[in-house]
Amino acid sequence: MGSRWHNYSHLIRMAALFVAGILIFLVGRSFFVPADFGVYWHYRAGALDDARARPIRFAGQAACVECHSDISDLRKTARHAKVSCESCHGALATHAAGDEPLKPTRPNGKALCVGCHTKSPSKPVAFPQIDVADHAGDNACIECHNPHAPKIS
Ligand code: HEC
Ligand code: HEC
Ligand code: HEC
Ligand code: HEC
Repeated sequence: MGSRWHNYSHLIRMAALFVAGILIFLVGRSFFVPADFGVYWHYRAGALDDARARPIRFAGQAACVECHSDISDLRKTARHAKVSCESCHGALATHAAGDEPLKPTRPNGKALCVGCHTKSPSKPVAFPQIDVADHAGDNACIECHNPHAPKIS
């Protein structure tokens, strides 16, 4: 009997370590996982309220068009029509709400344009793209192109 116990005791010690480990994990988990985790899915339900409480930064194109209809008219038939205002102008919810600053700064034409139009083999061939140094040299893009209706002729 005694020798048989000797044969198994190391396994029992190991099993006890496993059980202790699992218990520590379960206790720790109940301590650290927030109570509202998993109410809806694999996230904290309160995260929805946290996100909702953050200020809205983008106004959306519909808001811009209410006051800047001249620009949306200009864009209607241009190929930039589907690039929305705030992709170039940045988030302007405070401006659109009529708060300060009333007059937002104009985007830097060149840095903006090359971000989308620099020639690259990874872009679809149908997308208009240019070798910037060849095409524009030191000139600003908006010296020749209207940013809202960029086609020249
Ligand atoms: C409630 C009306 C209103 C809304 C909505 C609005 N704007 Fe304006 N915006 C103005 C006014 C007024 C000015 C100041 C015009 C001036 O002083 O020449 C202005 C100025 C600007 C300017 C600077 C013009 C310049 O001459 O440098 C930009 C750029 C601009 N708005 C973009 C936008 C964008 C983009 C949106 C949508 C996110 C937007 N605006 C929404 C009324 C509005
Ligand atoms: C492709 C980028 C791009 C998009 C999209 C765009 N803009 Fe602009 N916008 C510019 C740039 C660049 C300037 C600065 C031009 C300059 O400095 O002369 C500008 C200037 C302006 C100005 C002031 C000068 C002017 O022409 O009256 C207003 C107002 C304006 N944008 C509003 C809008 C609104 C509203 C929309 C959406 C309906 C829009 N923009 C979409 C790039 C863009
Ligand atoms: C957010 C990306 C983006 C930015 C920034 C941008 N463009 Fe574009 N541009 C486009 C898209 C999208 C098209 C249309 C592509 C299509 O129709 O397949 C386009 C089309 C054009 C065309 C072709 C017009 C035509 O009718 O053939 C020119 C020229 C152009 N852009 C110049 C500019 C200039 C100048 C600026 C900077 C003021 C600029 N773009 C900024 C996305 C951008
Ligand atoms: C000296 C004037 C000039 C300047 C500066 C200039 N362009 Fe152009 N760009 C043209 C002309 C002319 C065309 C011919 C097509 C047209 O009529 O719009 C053109 C065409 C384009 C096209 C269409 C290419 C195609 O394959 O359809 C894009 C995109 C473009 N330019 C972007 C830019 C960008 C971005 C800048 C600034 C880095 C810039 N351009 C600066 C004159 C200019």
